[in-house]
Amino acid sequence: MKARVLGSCAGGGLPQWNCGGANSVRARRGDPDVPARTQPGLAVSADGVRWSILNAGPDLRVQLAAFPALHPKPGTRDVPLDTVALTSAELDHVLGLLVLREALSFRIVSTRWVRDAILEHNAAWRLVEPIWGSAALDAPVFLDRENRLEARFFPVTPKVPGYLRDVAKPHAETTTGMRITDLASGARLAFVPGLSSIDSATAAELAAADVRFVDGTFFTADELRKSKPGAPDAAAMGHVPITGQGGSLAALAGMSGRTYYVHMNCTNPLLDAASPERARVRRAGVEIADDGLELEL
Ligand code: MLT
Ligand code: MN
Repeated sequence: MKARVLGSCAGGGLPQWNCGGANSVRARRGDPDVPARTQPGLAVSADGVRWSILNAGPDLRVQLAAFPALHPKPGTRDVPLDTVALTSAELDHVLGLLVLREALSFRIVSTRWVRDAILEHNAAWRLVEPIWGSAALDAPVFLDRENRLEARFFPVTPKVPGYLRDVAKPHAETTTGMRITDLASGARLAFVPGLSSIDSATAAELAAADVRFVDGTFFTADELRKSKPGAPDAAAMGHVPITGQGGSLAALAGMSGRTYYVHMNCTNPLLDAASPERARVRRAGVEIADDGLELEL
């Protein structure tokens, strides 16, 4: 299996347009330690020829432009894209579906809750309704035509996206991670960009993967409050902090294989490659994903 990080930051990216915090200022200046980053998404492939995408962020157009493997065959409109799979209805995971509206030559898959919540309350997404299927939790769904890349949605603590809070109730299918297994090699990847706490089932899912991409939104629980007075803490926003009580780093530190934080918020000190926080995470055996990172497993 191959994987490519399309975008490593949380919604807003880096720099975030309304943020004057240190990371955004340095990214605007072109500081090499704080490179600009796009909004979240991952591409996966069994053979390096045909690809599927996990979460469609708002920067998908530029992410595809920067990735030759997903360009159309010259002289045609044939794009080697099979499936777009969605782990939640968060806007930074689904706005990119509208960016792909010029063709319905691929398919979309999510849980039924995610599909119905978006389609019932947002008329624009009905453009892609004809290609949008749903999958039950833990049921196998194939991302490729050869039925080699098997995906399963697994539930994590549900968090209803802010824009749906008044119209939809939390459900086991609201927020998921994905387990991708290459049935030819047995390689396994876990992708969990939104995670408010790590219970034993989630820890087992993450531990069983060869490569895991995990919610790294906030380094500390109260990080956002420093630049946005009154902001809720990380867990209330649906993101387990990396450090502190119940932090993800302690849970991830002992896991074998490769671990990457993704979906970093623009306030996260890990975005500075020279920061002591980055050194601490690396010492624990965890990396942060970079835009364009490619892996083979
Ligand atoms: C999140 O990750 O918590 C959401 O994407 C926040 C948002 O709606 O921007
Ligand atoms: Mn997000």
